[in-house]
Amino acid sequence: MSKPTSHFVCQSCGATYAKWAGKCDSCGQWNCLVEEALPTTPAKSVGSKGGRQLDFTSLQGKVELPARYLSNIQELDRVCGGGFVQGSVILVGGDPGIGKSTLLLQAVAQLSSGKDPLRCVYISGEESVAQIQRRAKRLGLEGSSVELASAMNVRDILASLDTASAPDVVVIDSIQTMFVDTLDSAPGTVGQVRAAGHELIEMAKRRNCVLFLVGHVTKEGALAGPRVLEHMVDTVLYFEGDRGHHFRILRAVKNRFGATDEIGVFEMTEQGLKQVPNPSALFLAE
Ligand SMILES: Nc1ncnc2c1ncn2[C@@H]1O[C@H](COP(=O)(O)OP(=O)(O)OP(=O)(O)O)[C@@H](O)[C@H]1O
Ligand SMILES: [Mg+2]
Ligand SMILES: [Zn+2]
Repeated sequence: MSKPTSHFVCQSCGATYAKWAGKCDSCGQWNCLVEEALPTTPAKSVGSKGGRQLDFTSLQGKVELPARYLSNIQELDRVCGGGFVQGSVILVGGDPGIGKSTLLLQAVAQLSSGKDPLRCVYISGEESVAQIQRRAKRLGLEGSSVELASAMNVRDILASLDTASAPDVVVIDSIQTMFVDTLDSAPGTVGQVRAAGHELIEMAKRRNCVLFLVGHVTKEGALAGPRVLEHMVDTVLYFEGDRGHHFRILRAVKNRFGATDEIGVFEMTEQGLKQVPNPSALFLAE
């Protein structure tokens, strides 16, 4: 019998199956199995030969709190645990059209201005530069010094950013549109999301920059690839809201640098997202 060359990967949770099925047994989602090529060299146990002895140390050490950047969008800073930790990776998930791109464009516009302006880069694989410029104009942010590019190939992104003069803050909108050209599978598949995410996260750690990854999450889970990213990143935020309703809630579902019981409330307006600093009054009034 010849060895199988492909398997079926759940695009929601990453579980793998030899045969196709309509439903993933592992996470219960429907229509989420996609055929992907198996790696050609099977992973073997590495063994200990030639390995280096580890230096174990005590739990006590020089404790330095990591530096944090503030966007001055207080609701966002608070949900992140008091600003963004240098070298940390934040996944921002949410339904289509909920306002992910708007929130992050407003955040980098803030971070790139003020007393200590940061170098901020916004890379979109979904929208053209002109589309983002139009949004910036509508939000009154066209004067900010955010550097904008449209790209999808991770190799191009690393060539531009993985340098000594790496930016302080990078937004990737969205991770499902990014691909590494060493893999055959299409952008958005679990394999690509995981590989592209891994490369970008490594770059952020190496260059000590804050990395925001936008991820689409659909209720049906048809293409909820970012699930596999949740354990690779430091912070996972979900941006939620009701269709036809202007209010949006940002919540942290995971945070290595803060609590996860904070929520931020925003209102979507023509000029972008406005903070709602006292949401309890508002919800009571409704
Ligand atoms: N002129 C406008 N006036 C008011 N609200 C607007 C206007 N244009 C866009 N919006 C709001 O912005 C939302 C789109 O925001 P944004 O593009 O940031 O969402 P997104 O989550 O990035 O979407 P996608 O999943 O398509 O990337 C719209 O659904 C709408 O609520
Ligand atoms: Mg968007
Ligand atoms: Zn699954």
